[in-house]
Amino acid sequence: MSGSARPENHVVVLFGATGDLAARKLLPGLFHLAAVGLLPDRYRIIGSSRRTLSDEQFRDLAREAVERFGTSKPNGETWETFQQTLSFAGASPDDTTALVAAIERAEKEIGGAPGRLFHLAVPPAAFEPTVTMLGAAGLAPGSRVIIEKPFGTDLESARALNDTVHAVFDESQVFRIDHFLGKESVDNILAFRFANGLFEPVWNRNHISYVQIDVPETLSIEGRAGFYEHTGAYRDMIVTHLLQVLGFLAMEPPTALDARHLREETAKVFDALRPIDVQHVVRGQYTGYRDEDGVAADSQTETMAAVRVEIDNWRWSGVPFFLRSGKKLGASRQLVTLGFHEPPLRMFPAGARDGRNELVIDFADPGSITVEFLAKEPGAQLRLGAAGMVFRYADSFCAAHSLEGYERLILDAMLGDESLFTQAAAVERLWEISGPLLDDPPPVQPYEPGTWGPQPAVDQLITPFRWRLPHAGPPRD
Ligand code: BG6
Repeated sequence: MSGSARPENHVVVLFGATGDLAARKLLPGLFHLAAVGLLPDRYRIIGSSRRTLSDEQFRDLAREAVERFGTSKPNGETWETFQQTLSFAGASPDDTTALVAAIERAEKEIGGAPGRLFHLAVPPAAFEPTVTMLGAAGLAPGSRVIIEKPFGTDLESARALNDTVHAVFDESQVFRIDHFLGKESVDNILAFRFANGLFEPVWNRNHISYVQIDVPETLSIEGRAGFYEHTGAYRDMIVTHLLQVLGFLAMEPPTALDARHLREETAKVFDALRPIDVQHVVRGQYTGYRDEDGVAADSQTETMAAVRVEIDNWRWSGVPFFLRSGKKLGASRQLVTLGFHEPPLRMFPAGARDGRNELVIDFADPGSITVEFLAKEPGAQLRLGAAGMVFRYADSFCAAHSLEGYERLILDAMLGDESLFTQAAAVERLWEISGPLLDDPPPVQPYEPGTWGPQPAVDQLITPFRWRLPHAGPPRD
């Protein structure tokens, strides 16, 4: 995987430049990369969308986005230099003249033969027309393309999208982005497991009885009904982010930390995933969702999903993986929890086992890792109390050096490093195992905003184990 090398000179074209993702993550992220000196020596960023903006309007829009959502504020010389690299060119399948001209101009200004990166931050329905448009405009050769998620809505549409993409780009030019794989603490799963002798030996069915990947959000759909109504929590979060994280958690040690070997190992995990059993799925919808603007009065879209998956291989056979994510839940957290087997002999007094023996990876930036275990409470009697060992990124390392998921991945795409991007076959496999659920989804059950999903279904799904959230609260300080 890449170190902190700077990429070669580049023209970056941002489709969907006036949208929500560009404002929240991409423009602030590009500016942060510029501010910490990780963008190329010479680069240009061309915003594009179906709307037409002047360069000035786009710079204003970018400044507002960076001001509102960025970690680096848009001031001083760094901003002045950055904003001069921004321009705007509208494009549509019928007319790419302005875009082609803007790219040619930018390449000429940079000089030499700069790299060209297209970022498709557009709604899923616009992936195919945008890719086809790039092909028709002759812009594909020598370029790289970042495609957002979800990549398709089921196996058939993912295959069709892959066919369209491959008619224009070679797979080596395609960077399917899943920004969770760019998060420091998700990446750290690889370091934690494979750089230490302590943890990997217990990372299997002999020692672990369950795994939870829990990503509740307090956010609502934030006005994104147009996207969310056709997507829902399973497609938006589980088949994408949570299963990708599962790939890192469950993989065998790769022969080397390069794209080929990492992807080979995650592909084996996905291959061993059992097709989802609808008996092991809870779909919830928060009360009030149907009143949101743009949502159908009888919408069956789930705003929360909890799923039990199993991996049929030697390492994980019999270990359930519980995945949960949703909107308007009780807290915004991003937790992986591995629960260890109970010791074979219960020699301590009954009632003493209230604590949990879990390893908890909190992968919300800046992230932490906690090992929770039982210890003897001080005193004359041998009573057990909950104890923990905590590693916090922010305490141990300089947070200023950290990059957000998108920042890391845009940088990797410019460097041509595909390690943290998803492959065509892997994406198709995840849709394949989702087939039974997508074909025959259980009915949505209501839940109140601020709770943890429909009860008792969501707790029953995990029985005889317990969700770490909210019962066990946040990792201990
Ligand atoms: C996006 C989803 O991919 O990830 C959103 O579309 C979700 O619905 C978001 O809120 C969560 O990502 P993060 O990194 O902001 O927690």
